[in-house]
Amino acid sequence: MLYKVLRPIEGFLLVGLGGAVCGEGEATFLVVGDENDFILEVFMDCHSERDWTRFSAPVKEGTWGKGGGVFSQKMGLPGTFYVANITPAGIGDWTDGEIFRAITTGVSKEGQALFSIMPHPYYGQVAQEDIEAVITYLRTLPAIENKVPASEVDFPMNFILNTIPQKAHLQPVPSKTDPVLYGKYLITAACADCHTMKENGQNILAMEFAGGMEFPIPTGGRVQSANLTPDKTGLGN
Ligand code: HEC
Repeated sequence: MLYKVLRPIEGFLLVGLGGAVCGEGEATFLVVGDENDFILEVFMDCHSERDWTRFSAPVKEGTWGKGGGVFSQKMGLPGTFYVANITPAGIGDWTDGEIFRAITTGVSKEGQALFSIMPHPYYGQVAQEDIEAVITYLRTLPAIENKVPASEVDFPMNFILNTIPQKAHLQPVPSKTDPVLYGKYLITAACADCHTMKENGQNILAMEFAGGMEFPIPTGGRVQSANLTPDKTGLGN
């Protein structure tokens, strides 16, 4: 599964992660600056509806950011988590700082911990300017009224959850002349979360990039993320 250009939108080039799924009916997109020298990385497919009848399940027109997807016990998760509406109708009254804190540390406007299906532990390692660009872009989305229920967290995750948010460790965007450092930056922001197994909602660091996360497909079946490490069970063969 490699990048696949889906369609240009508002001056950005949308690069879909072919075959990737995320939640019951959702997945991730990387939005790469077309002319501008920045990368917007957003979970637009987790936060939008997908068309599962088409190859790679593109986001349905008019559902950008509306949220409402469900991640539940059916997927082995400790609760029922509803994907937030991140259009201006959902978080329009949040300040930039509140959105920034939610994306990079996993704490909502109301001070509640966000479960790490929302990959804040990785987004907290991105550059401040990239997160700011994401927020700027979110403010331009058409507002879609869609009231999403509050997530219900099972015991004991309802307590453990509060220990997951961490201070962000923001870093500058590495120079593109250093492909290893720059690639590491991109993969941390865009790929690590789906390709790393989790325990109690936390990434198992020893298994970083080793794949194995399961994603049920709404139309039936499931896929597992691949092992991206150079081992022979991964990309080394
Ligand atoms: C939303 C979750 C998700 C994200 C984000 C994601 N992947 Fe994947 N990836 C998957 C899943 C699931 C598969 C397996 C798909 C299948 O088997 O059809 C996969 C498969 C792959 C494969 C195929 C390997 C093989 O052995 O078949 C590669 C390579 C890959 N991903 C690289 C990446 C890179 C690089 C990124 C970041 C730019 C990325 N992925 C982001 C979920 C994701």
